[in-house]
Amino acid sequence: MSEDIGDRFQQETKYDPHSLGGHRLDWSERPEPFKEYLNATERVRLPDVDLSGYSKPLAECLFQRRSIRAYREGELTLNDLSFLIWATQGVTARYGDTLFRTAPSAGALYPVETYLYTRSVEGLKKGLWHYNVRSFELELIKEGELEHELAQAALMQPVVQKAQVVFLWTSVSERSKWKYSQRAYRYIYLDAGHICENLYLAATACGLGCCAIGAFFDDWLNRIIGVDGKTETIIYMATIGLPKKR
Ligand SMILES: Cc1cc2nc3c(=O)[nH]c(=O)nc-3n(C[C@H](O)[C@H](O)[C@H](O)COP(=O)(O)O)c2cc1C
Repeated sequence: MSEDIGDRFQQETKYDPHSLGGHRLDWSERPEPFKEYLNATERVRLPDVDLSGYSKPLAECLFQRRSIRAYREGELTLNDLSFLIWATQGVTARYGDTLFRTAPSAGALYPVETYLYTRSVEGLKKGLWHYNVRSFELELIKEGELEHELAQAALMQPVVQKAQVVFLWTSVSERSKWKYSQRAYRYIYLDAGHICENLYLAATACGLGCCAIGAFFDDWLNRIIGVDGKTETIIYMATIGLPKKR
């Protein structure tokens, strides 16, 4: 890591009134906005979300939100998982081809993809799934036990091994760079922050524990997920678990 790369990035991606403008979008070059695993070994349609089941007031969720790292054994319900996924990247409106989500995204370009490792969820195989935004489905891309390897790749953090579910967020940076060039990286990380905060609040609303994870060996996780680390790369993770103390 070069010592000043962050400082240079911050300086060189500033907008200023003299340099802005003149950039035309080439719609014929627009990157594919969705990812789909057509060869997934299994597809599971997530249950429709019954919002009336999650009625804890927002102010209480904000007040109670905490990073929780101690989880007990047990299964997460598929309804709760469906709510959590919806809260992070559920579709709430459609204008033309654009599917607007529960979390905001710079330019509505949605560069973040969601993967989930399910260690213990009612009715779901243990394994790595991709969330298909358009169909509200999970696509199984790797079946089997991965919690130990995921924890190792996350600097051996026990919270990753004990979680019922691990969210893994990657970015497909081309979706944003198409419009924002190198400044896109600022927006990608901001997008991910919004997504993770939605997850924290949704987890709090259903009495679950959540912990953001930013410490990991990037390319180890990229290999587990099966992405190249360039066109698509891991940027953020979060754990979800049944909390030891309520
Ligand atoms: C970008 C980011 C990365 C984080 N990475 C980790 C992590 O790798 N491991 C961990 O246990 N907590 C991680 N956290 C959680 C913070 O430690 C936690 O938010 C902080 O201690 C404040 O506590 P609170 O969330 O309970 O308010 C991360 C939080 C953020 C926002």
